[in-house]
Amino acid sequence: MATNLSFSRLWHVPPIEKFYTSLHRATSERESVHDAPTPTSIEFREFLKRRYTDSNDLGRALDVGCGATGIHTLSCARHGFRDVCGVDLNHESLRLARGIAADSPLTAGISHVNASALVLPFASESHDLVVLLGIIHHTPDPKEAVMEASRVLKEGGKVYIGVYCFEKSWFDWIIRVLRCFSFIVPFRLSQLCFSKIAVINDFFLDHMYVPNLWLFKGKDVATFIEQAGLTIEDQWPSTFDRFQGKRFFGKSITGDGLYRIFVCRKG
Ligand SMILES: C[S@@+](CC[C@H](N)C(=O)[O-])C[C@H]1O[C@@H](n2cnc3c(N)ncnc32)[C@H](O)[C@@H]1O
Repeated sequence: MATNLSFSRLWHVPPIEKFYTSLHRATSERESVHDAPTPTSIEFREFLKRRYTDSNDLGRALDVGCGATGIHTLSCARHGFRDVCGVDLNHESLRLARGIAADSPLTAGISHVNASALVLPFASESHDLVVLLGIIHHTPDPKEAVMEASRVLKEGGKVYIGVYCFEKSWFDWIIRVLRCFSFIVPFRLSQLCFSKIAVINDFFLDHMYVPNLWLFKGKDVATFIEQAGLTIEDQWPSTFDRFQGKRFFGKSITGDGLYRIFVCRKG
């Protein structure tokens, strides 16, 4: 069972295709965030190094929900994927991601497309790697997002998923309380007051107001990954989750992982 904390529609919260516009703008206005490695992006680069040793031409990769930094798009291109496409619903996030790619070295094969993870504008079996980091839990139908990734993937291709797996943990309850405040405090007011503070902009405002939000247990995600015709090769709680592995309470605080990473193969 998954927990769906999505809002049907709050008058003061923009719909998902516009929601990240101001949050990502605020992030991009902070100095040196553009290509700054985050724990999740470092972990993704380590995965690329481990799994793709011959890096001359690794084929085509998709970074779905690439966001405003497009940092995983850049990692794929630099690691040897010939054709890398960053996909996002949000025009402003794509504009920022395009600007960063244009200013960065080794990004010749990168393109960006405005599209939904639920209806990817690509032929079936056309890609070698699909990245779904921090996105499926923000779609109206996470299972469909994984099905769609599987559709565009070639036989033997891989999907790298990072998804919220802290259902029924302390973090789950913290997010529920925060979301109660979102009914009282308008989004614009919170932003006006707090968007310059990184942790509030990137964590609290995001989780308080994002229209679509799902929380899972690891085994529920595993079930719908397998239903999409994918085999899980590896999974672990992301290193971004500092509470995992703590002697006392680790699992109670963040469940199966603030982000849980699943590496899957088609077929
Ligand atoms: C939390 S950000 C993650 C960004 C990036 N993947 C990362 O790991 O830093 C989520 C991104 O997914 C995008 N998004 C949300 N729903 C989407 C959908 N249905 N299709 C495509 N992109 C979507 C948002 O616009 C946003 O840029």
